Amino acid sequence: MVENNAAAFPATYPIAAMPNARAKAKEMKQPNYAAYARFYDYFELAGCSESEELNIFLDEFFELNGVKTVLDFACGTGAQAVGLARSGYQVTAADLSAEMLKLARDKATDLPVTFVKADMRTAKLGSHDAAICIFNAIGHLTREECRAFFAHARGHLNPQGIFVTDIFNYKAMTGKAFAQYRRMRREAIIDGLLVQHVRNCTLLKDSRQLRIESLTRAQDGTHKPEEIKDDWQMQLYESEELYDMLKSAGFSEINFFGSVGCDFDSETTESILAVCQK
Ligand SMILES: C[S@@+](CC[C@H](N)C(=O)[O-])C[C@H]1O[C@@H](n2cnc3c(N)ncnc32)[C@H](O)[C@@H]1O
Repeated sequence: MVENNAAAFPATYPIAAMPNARAKAKEMKQPNYAAYARFYDYFELAGCSESEELNIFLDEFFELNGVKTVLDFACGTGAQAVGLARSGYQVTAADLSAEMLKLARDKATDLPVTFVKADMRTAKLGSHDAAICIFNAIGHLTREECRAFFAHARGHLNPQGIFVTDIFNYKAMTGKAFAQYRRMRREAIIDGLLVQHVRNCTLLKDSRQLRIESLTRAQDGTHKPEEIKDDWQMQLYESEELYDMLKSAGFSEINFFGSVGCDFDSETTESILAVCQK
C-alpha cells in the first residue's frame, strides 16, 4: 500500500497547479511552518536536531568575545538556541511560529532558554551580549524590513555586542551553486509515516529572490495522505549589499564567512555568514 502511494508521488511539482502561485504580497510569503514544523528537522536539518558545526563556530567565537547571553531572533525548532544553551549561554529564543517554538521547547528541557513567541521586526526582547538570526531567516523579510531589522537587532545588543546572521549568496546562486537547489526530492520515515518532500526552486533575477514550491506528503499506507503545499519566496543578497545594509544599521567589524565559519568567496560561496559588532 505504502509503496503504491509512494510511486504516485510526483518527481517535481507542477508550478501552475500551486495555490496562489501568482499572488503578489507586500510581505514575503512564508512557508506554512505551522504544518511543516514536525518535518522541519528531517528535511531542513538533514535529520539532526541541531546545527552542530555552526554551533561550535558560534561557541568558539562567543567565548573569545566574552559573550554570556544570546538572543536568537528566529529560533525555529531550536537548531542554535538549544546547542548554545547546552554550552552554557543564557539564551532568549524567539520565533513567529508557535509550532516551531513548541518543538524547540521540547528539546530544551532543563536548559537555560527563555522562549518567546515574537515577531523579530517589532519585538522588544531586552539587551544581550550577542544576537543571531540564522538559516536564511532574514530571507523571510523584504529588503526594507531587513534594513530596519538590522538596526532593531543592534538595539538589542550590549556595548560591543556581536550580531551573526546568514543568507544564501545571490551571486553564487547565479552560478554553479544553484544547481543543487533546482530540484530536490527526499523521503523519510517520521513517527511511523512515510514522508516525501519534493521542491522546485526558481531564481527570480529581477527581485533577486528564490522562489520555492514544495509538496510534502505524509502517508500511513491506510488513510488519505496529508499534503502540505507551499509556494514562497526568499530574499537573497550578495555580500556587497549585505555589507552596506549592516554598515548603515551602525554595525562595525563586519566579516563574512562560509556557512559554518569556512573561508568566504563573494562569487562562489553558497551562503554568507555575517559576523559584526555593535
Ligand atoms: C528557516 S527557519 C530557521 C530556524 C532556525 N534558526 C534554524 O536554523 O533552523 C526560519 C524561521 O524564521 C521564523 N520567522 C519568520 N519570520 C519571522 C519573524 N518576522 N519573526 C520571528 N520569526 C520569524 C519562522 O517561523 C522559522 O521558524
